[in-house]
Amino acid sequence: MTAMQKSNTPLFLGIDLGTSQTAIMSSEGGKALIRSVVGYPKDVIGVRLLKKTLVVGDEALEKRSYLNLHFPLEDGVLKETGDREIKAAKELIEYAIAQVNPDDRGRLCGIIGVPARASVTNKAQLLKIADEMLDLSMVVSEPFMVAYGLNCLTNTIIIDIGAGTIDLCAMKGTVPSQEDQITLLKAGNHVDEVLAAEIAESYPEVQMTTLLAKKIKEQHGYVGESRESVMVNLRAGGRPVTCDLSREVRVACESILPDILENVEQLITSFDPEYQEDALKNIILAGGGGQIMGLRQALLSHLQGHGEVNVIRVEDPDFAGAAGALKLATELPPEYWTQVGDVIGS
Ligand SMILES: Nc1ncnc2c1ncn2[C@@H]1O[C@H](COP(=O)(O)OP(=O)(O)O)[C@@H](O)[C@H]1O
Ligand SMILES: [Mg+2]
Repeated sequence: MTAMQKSNTPLFLGIDLGTSQTAIMSSEGGKALIRSVVGYPKDVIGVRLLKKTLVVGDEALEKRSYLNLHFPLEDGVLKETGDREIKAAKELIEYAIAQVNPDDRGRLCGIIGVPARASVTNKAQLLKIADEMLDLSMVVSEPFMVAYGLNCLTNTIIIDIGAGTIDLCAMKGTVPSQEDQITLLKAGNHVDEVLAAEIAESYPEVQMTTLLAKKIKEQHGYVGESRESVMVNLRAGGRPVTCDLSREVRVACESILPDILENVEQLITSFDPEYQEDALKNIILAGGGGQIMGLRQALLSHLQGHGEVNVIRVEDPDFAGAAGALKLATELPPEYWTQVGDVIGS
């Protein structure tokens, strides 16, 4: 393909801006997963060590001792904390795009997913940033992207358990309205905090951080009856100790369960009665937190009295959102984009 031809074909992008990680996929097969963190050197020594003034992703976390870290999406959407966070968000998106479009050629048309009920101001901020970087851009709700990617556009309930938010969405054959979407602010990060606190209470001598709690949760997280006890090697007073964290892990993971169950039930009743049976058979678990063991079972037993229930876990929780956004970007003629979310550019 000549450069001329190439620039006529837009590069479509699907971007899932998550609190903990940002996933991007391009119509030419590019794919990247980036931790949603941006670091700036604390002082000149940091600049000297890094040989740059900006670090994005895992490298920023690794080198955090000489960086000021910014998590621009910490609350699930752009925090409303002024220019620094907006700049960091911009740098994160720019970095993500560079991962899949290194040559920087042609028109860029991108769809960005944000939590279902992102406030209007935050959405507007995001669109503004996107507009500076993309020729055509749109912001859509994240659970809708997941649904679109899976071709589940009707009689489906999506439960997307992220780090900062849990987004629930009822798909009814149209673009979901505000009433069909719920964002819960107690999500993965909340589980980490509860777990760290529970461990600190049971084992006061053990050194614990939320980052460590997060790792333990990702490895052993479960709800309901456990099959085996959770034994973890930790450190107390500089020495290794092995702790039984079965109770603590369960308590922490179950802390988000009542909210999820209650809101799923609410979403089910929002369907017309004749569709509820189908919706119950199409409950989709997405997001990193969807991998907590026993979640499916917990949902099934909670919804027991409702008749036949089926809960499906997405195959690739890291990319399900970005894949849906990319699918939407490539399938939807640009002139229709405004019907799904907000569109900027032309
Ligand atoms: N195997 C796992 N078990 C439980 N939780 C997990 C697992 N893997 C990732 N997570 C959690 O999922 C959350 C991140 O999910 P993700 O969908 O990437 O979030 P976001 O969209 O907010 O960036 C984090 O809280 C992370 O700790
Ligand atoms: Mg997400």
